[in-house]
Amino acid sequence: MPPPVAFIIGAGWNVGRSVASTLKGLGYKIALGSRSPPGFTGDFLYVRMDATKPDDVAEAFDKVTKELGPPHVVIFNPCTFQPIPRPGDPLSLSRPAFERHIAIGTAVFDSAQHALAGFRKLGPGTPGSPRTFIVTGNIAPFSWSCLLSRIKKRASSGLPRLAFAV
Ligand SMILES: NC(=O)c1ccc[n+]([C@@H]2O[C@H](COP(=O)([O-])OP(=O)(O)OC[C@H]3O[C@@H](n4cnc5c(N)ncnc54)[C@H](OP(=O)(O)O)[C@@H]3O)[C@@H](O)[C@H]2O)c1
Repeated sequence: MPPPVAFIIGAGWNVGRSVASTLKGLGYKIALGSRSPPGFTGDFLYVRMDATKPDDVAEAFDKVTKELGPPHVVIFNPCTFQPIPRPGDPLSLSRPAFERHIAIGTAVFDSAQHALAGFRKLGPGTPGSPRTFIVTGNIAPFSWSCLLSRIKKRASSGLPRLAFAV
């Protein structure tokens, strides 16, 4: 039987890297999706995608399915952190920034639809070969892990280092 496939959407240094390495150890083939590649894609299939764009999601699932097979496990892990221009005044956020921020909440719908289509292609799961959709990502207005990861990425990409008070 071919090895099971896991697709981690929003694969960053924290949940993504750790889950990828654990599932690889369990024999899974792994695909990682994000808007820019994290620094640990070597062993894995990397797919550039913005989970809030339905066309990107469709193309990403197509690529994963063509190259590895339909995913048995899909983990939806993108998060957003949107600093508020005037701390303590949430309505100081612009409407476009607010819409970008909440788009992560609705994006899960597209990924779930494609995951389910793949599960149906695979047929019923078994104890050793589950079909599973897990959501860990969310809007993270006060998530320090997400904020710190953003700062780390900006620092490593040479962009100005930022710090916010929340
Ligand atoms: N860390 C923990 O222990 C933990 C535990 C439980 C739950 N969570 C939750 O899990 C979520 C992720 O946390 P994390 O610590 O794993 O964060 P992380 O390491 O920053 O990973 C999240 C990844 O999502 C990607 N992403 C963001 N927006 C995206 C989009 N529109 N499309 C595709 N990818 C996108 C980011 O990469 P790009 O910017 O390159 O796209 C980033 O690398 C958060 O909501 C957090 O609250 C975390």
